[in-house]
Amino acid sequence: MPAGGNLKAYNSLWQLRNDTWSSLEESAIQLASAEAQQRPVEKLVEKVTELLDVLGPIERFWAFPGVQTYREGQRLFAADKYDGLAALVAKANRALATESYLQGQSWDPGVEDDTYDHEVRAMAQARTDRPYFEVLVVEDMTDEQERSLRLELRRWRRPDDPFVYEIVVVPSFDDALMAARLNFRLQACVARRRFTHRSRHDSAPLAQFVYSGGSADLMERSPEDRAQVLARSLARIRPELDLYLMTEIAVEDMAGRLSHHYRRIFHVREGSLELHLSILDGVAARYRTPFFNALRSYSHRPTGVFHALPISHAKSILNSHWIRDMADFYGLEIFLAETSATSGGLDSLLEPTGPLREAQQLAAETFGSQQTYFVTNGTSTANKIVVQAVVQPGDIVLVDRNCHQSHHYGLMLAGAMVTYLDAYPLNKYSMYGAVPLLEIKRQLLALRRAGKLDRVKMLLLTNCTFDGIIYDVRRVMEECLAIKPDLVFLWDEAWFAFARFHPVYRPRTAMRAARTLAERLRLPEHRELFDRFTEEVGPVDYADDEVLLERRLLPDPARARVRVYSTQSTHKTLTSLRQGSMIHVWDQDFSQKVEDTFHEAYMTHTSTSPNYQILASLDLGRRQAALEGFELVLKQIENAMRLRDAVDNHPLLSKYMRCLTTADLIPAGYRPTGIEQPLRSGLANMMMAWETDEFVLDPSRITIYIGATGIEGDAFKRNYLMDRYGVQINKTSRNTVLFMTTIGTTRSSVAYLIEVLVAIARDLDAKAAGMSPVERATRERAVLRLTAPSAPLPDFSGFHPGFKDSSGQPTPEGDVRRAFYLAYNDSHCEYLTPDEVEQQMESGEQVVSTTYVTPYPPGYPVLVPGQVFSPQILSFMRALDTPEVHGYRPGLGYRVYTDKALEIAATARLAPADPAGPSARPSTMARIRLPSMGPPGASHPPSTQAAIC
Ligand SMILES: Cc1ncc(COP(=O)(O)O)c(C=O)c1O
Repeated sequence: MPAGGNLKAYNSLWQLRNDTWSSLEESAIQLASAEAQQRPVEKLVEKVTELLDVLGPIERFWAFPGVQTYREGQRLFAADKYDGLAALVAKANRALATESYLQGQSWDPGVEDDTYDHEVRAMAQARTDRPYFEVLVVEDMTDEQERSLRLELRRWRRPDDPFVYEIVVVPSFDDALMAARLNFRLQACVARRRFTHRSRHDSAPLAQFVYSGGSADLMERSPEDRAQVLARSLARIRPELDLYLMTEIAVEDMAGRLSHHYRRIFHVREGSLELHLSILDGVAARYRTPFFNALRSYSHRPTGVFHALPISHAKSILNSHWIRDMADFYGLEIFLAETSATSGGLDSLLEPTGPLREAQQLAAETFGSQQTYFVTNGTSTANKIVVQAVVQPGDIVLVDRNCHQSHHYGLMLAGAMVTYLDAYPLNKYSMYGAVPLLEIKRQLLALRRAGKLDRVKMLLLTNCTFDGIIYDVRRVMEECLAIKPDLVFLWDEAWFAFARFHPVYRPRTAMRAARTLAERLRLPEHRELFDRFTEEVGPVDYADDEVLLERRLLPDPARARVRVYSTQSTHKTLTSLRQGSMIHVWDQDFSQKVEDTFHEAYMTHTSTSPNYQILASLDLGRRQAALEGFELVLKQIENAMRLRDAVDNHPLLSKYMRCLTTADLIPAGYRPTGIEQPLRSGLANMMMAWETDEFVLDPSRITIYIGATGIEGDAFKRNYLMDRYGVQINKTSRNTVLFMTTIGTTRSSVAYLIEVLVAIARDLDAKAAGMSPVERATRERAVLRLTAPSAPLPDFSGFHPGFKDSSGQPTPEGDVRRAFYLAYNDSHCEYLTPDEVEQQMESGEQVVSTTYVTPYPPGYPVLVPGQVFSPQILSFMRALDTPEVHGYRPGLGYRVYTDKALEIAATARLAPADPAGPSARPSTMARIRLPSMGPPGASHPPSTQAAIC
């Protein structure tokens, strides 16, 4: 941008625009005062010209302050009326900065000049405190036509309208797409017949922010085609926008052909009342929160409480002598809304037929699924529900070994045969990346070779990972379906609910990828590509593994089924009370194959007393995402990028810390575009990397490398960030800390974090200045320890043969449930110290864990039931100085299987019966061998990766 100074913005113009209006206010006031005092004004005139040049190409996409205010400013400036300019800009900027124009506080620019457009004043004064939005009108019209349309629509306003809107008119297809990308206030778009293809404005200054793939000249196509292309292109960018078409020709025919693209199609001559009402109705449909509304109206009814909920209507609190402060703290409303009623306007979560069902349907529309289910116990429960619904005992499931513990337990309960997949390691930072597609294909092909493909049911991956590594979801599914056409996918999107609301993120979400894949499989072009592909490699079922590993595979459109599930912790990245999660389904075979088992699984894991506050907050969180998700995510990413810049460009901070980039966290082999910092090099570059690379990095998660501080991640988090400054984070590794930005992150919170980091860096500097030689050497050693590569992170070592499948050729999957329950008989178990484990391994024996051993950090199991110990695991655990290791008892050691138990396991695997047997009981104490040494090593940790979610 020709903005000069330090104006900079990444994916949104919002901040650049706001900053430019602020700078313009400052410069215009200075200019007016310089002129009044007869000081030289040349420099200030230059500055104002420059700022007006920045705003020119941007302002035309917004209704407020909008092009009219901008032009008035230009006019005043050209006429040297600097006082008037300063007053106009100051008012506009204030209204913009405080967003008072959204709340209907009247915005009167206070300009005396008669030539100033009265429209602008009228527009501002017409506001009330109703929510405000903007509507895009796409038509090449004159200023006069634009004004009369604006007036016409305004004439229909009524005091009881729920919302108020203004229009933004753009003349072309290109401008419409730019407006959709830039103006987050837009909620609807009205396409009219006469719009051109190319913009007549110079869009070069915006190139950094907009990305539009080229397309053939639309002007050569029929109006109907043009309308269709416009609708499709807008839906790709902003699927939530309500689209309307106004046409002069055969409206009935158009309606027949275009109604799935447009919400309503009108004949131009019918006037604008219907359009106005439809626009309000469209937004009202998204604004609706059926469950929240039902709960609110229920809560205000007087009720006699004779059900088991003494807290309802705060009865047990207000009558109490001892807990009245509870009502003071929480307020009365929350207790008025505490109820267990499932009738009287409310609904049952286990069998929803009323407002809850509607709320879930609205969520399905917003999140692009076929079905959506609310879950009140977090994604931990959502994951178990999906796994139980889809997987039968004995089914093979491929899963990232670093996945959340809920999957490990869910798969164990379901009786799955589990194949653990290894993610690529990032030894330098003691963390894992994600699972390469090659590894997934290799495992699938190995299962195919062993004749077990028919038992493979599900692939389960985390997208995005805790550290922000994002898969190419569609490509993974396409290639897997080429090998196993009915594979079911569960994408754990616990951290990714927000991604739906940004056009660059969206294609890498499970629901959008499922839809795109289903659409592509129906295209004749895909059929042709597939035919060509099979001509080259032959039928996939008989093709050589090596060939299939090298090639990008295409699914057979006649056989592939799109069966995709996603679980999202709404509470982690959108608005919901803690534990509010959703399950989204896009499964072509859902009603035929899963609906019933899904219901059973849902009943298995759901409380019969679900928390209505959580459900209502999910409903509201959905409303917010549908109406302002795009805006909030744009701002979130912008804030994240500013945080990155502030850390990396600060001379003191960069001495001690730096933000890890895509290149740091994703090895070059997974990034064919070679773009090292996609978003930093412009939105178009980000788009290219996100379309092409196997993995991309979520810019909203910022991993800061702190090796040079000499302070370990966990200590940095506890002793510095939390104890001294009250900054909360939830993940660290040996030498990194992860800062997550969310839709709740503000510019001020980013500024505060920078202040804190600078204070820590200053403290380190001050300490270094006063250090004795001994202290200095100690610090240098600490830095060396944290910056040197750690011991390699251990791969999955394998299941003991007793827990593997005895049929067919050997493959890695293991029966975790059998391994888990065998340990319920305590005579099968013993405790071994790390030294004893090592001795047994050295003497050639296999030592097998009875349980999950999960150091916190890193938070994923290093051992699972039935897994054999390896020297890598032992040395990893020894070097770990993590205080919390679930599944390891410091005084006793590791709980492992006895030789006898392993013999039983080997025999039992031939029989399908429950390995624990009816007489097995949980033990209070296993057979114990007293340990000869303490906890796993006290030496330096190769890996610490905290994860408290
Ligand atoms: C990948 C992943 N899945 C699932 C969960 C569990 O989600 P919830 O906290 O909503 O139960 C977490 C928690 O951190 C997680 O990281």
